[in-house]
Amino acid sequence: MMFLTRLAASLQHTIPTTLYHGSSADFDELKPNDHGIIWLTDDPEAAKKYATKYVGRKSEHLLTVHLTKTNPKVVDMRDATDPIVAEYKKQLEMDMGLGINYKIPESKWKDKAGYFLLEKYGTDLLKEHNVDVVIIKDAAGAYDHLSYAVLNSKIIKILR
Ligand SMILES: NC(=O)c1ccc[n+]([C@@H]2O[C@H](COP(=O)([O-])OP(=O)(O)OC[C@H]3O[C@@H](n4cnc5c(N)ncnc54)[C@H](O)[C@@H]3O)[C@@H](O)[C@H]2O)c1
Repeated sequence: MMFLTRLAASLQHTIPTTLYHGSSADFDELKPNDHGIIWLTDDPEAAKKYATKYVGRKSEHLLTVHLTKTNPKVVDMRDATDPIVAEYKKQLEMDMGLGINYKIPESKWKDKAGYFLLEKYGTDLLKEHNVDVVIIKDAAGAYDHLSYAVLNSKIIKILR
């Protein structure tokens, strides 16, 4: 039963196969950052904002990226009903040490489930579940968009 629940949850999220990464550097292979994540977005305008954010708009490289895996395992962090997200949330609540009965309310979870969560609390649990990509809501300044944290760098091919 648990297996079927997990299967249903992992099948319900589909993501675009073409995504974007903005960078101030030029390179041929995207390397995971210090948190083991490669950040992509489906919105080229958002990617461009990240390319220029730290360099005073002096250089801008927009990479178009293709995900090569046919059915990547995708988790949407905003969805606390996904069993993997629920497990992550539970571990986080315990790590926060705010008491055994402390639960982050679902309404607050949607705002909490951003980039800082993955970068601060890590992706080990998600990798244990063989998650390839995590969807989060994000903002480049005031520009709202979705971001895709790729945990499996092998599924990325740069199209340029
Ligand atoms: N850059 C984007 O297009 C993008 C997309 C979605 C979200 N974000 C957000 O921006 C924040 C920062 O993410 P980030 O990806 O910009 O930077 P990051 O903090 O993940 O740092 C990694 C840096 O290394 C660069 N890099 C990757 N491969 C390289 C290589 N082979 N040689 C040299 N440099 C290489 C990346 O372009 C990036 O600038 C994240 O918290 C995320 O929420 C960025």
